[in-house]
Amino acid sequence: MGAFTMGILRLLPFLMLLGGSALAQSPTYGVGSTPSAEEIRAWDISIGPTGKELPPGRGTAKEGAPVFAQKCAACHGATLAGGLAPTLLKAQKEPNVDPWQLGRVLPIRSPYATTVWDYINRAMPLNREGTLTADEVYALTAFLLYKNDVIPEDEVLDAQSLPKVEMPNREGFAPLPDWKPGTPRLQGYPY
Ligand code: HEC
Repeated sequence: MGAFTMGILRLLPFLMLLGGSALAQSPTYGVGSTPSAEEIRAWDISIGPTGKELPPGRGTAKEGAPVFAQKCAACHGATLAGGLAPTLLKAQKEPNVDPWQLGRVLPIRSPYATTVWDYINRAMPLNREGTLTADEVYALTAFLLYKNDVIPEDEVLDAQSLPKVEMPNREGFAPLPDWKPGTPRLQGYPY
């Protein structure tokens, strides 16, 4: 590669920045544009463990079953397993099994039920993300938690009840009390 080409390649990011600066609004750097309140709202969808960001809405496992059949089963399998996408069922039905041994299944492994809601809301159905209503996400979360024996079939999940669901692996992510750099951060984390 000639010196000239290398020079252009090194300059490329700066040239691209300059190109973008036509729409610039940032007074300090002269690049980018200030996001509108609506743009921020569209990105600001993270739900924390307390669930205080959860939107209004509600759903039960019974309501989630037909939504799952229509919008999820093609990839995950009609029985939540056996599809091309990962299984959504824990590996064993026996009670009191160490949750880490139940497979890489979000509705079991996650320490917070709110994370299951957040994941479905932001990431599913794959390639049609953002199309589910809040009620559908509550119902689908209830359906997956019911199928994994975390909640009963008729439990209503909403912004108040969802954060209170006791996940089987809620203690599994506690940091070691005497954690030192270089040692595993997560209690029981197998890899
Ligand atoms: C087009 C195929 C497709 C559809 C439709 C789909 N999923 Fe998925 N889903 C995937 C794939 C692929 C993954 C794995 C993504 C990854 O690991 O990054 C996944 C992952 C997941 C996970 C996390 C898996 C785990 O335990 O780690 C959940 C929960 C989930 N999907 C729920 C749903 C729900 C609920 C629906 C229906 C609204 C749905 N999916 C529809 C393909 C799909």
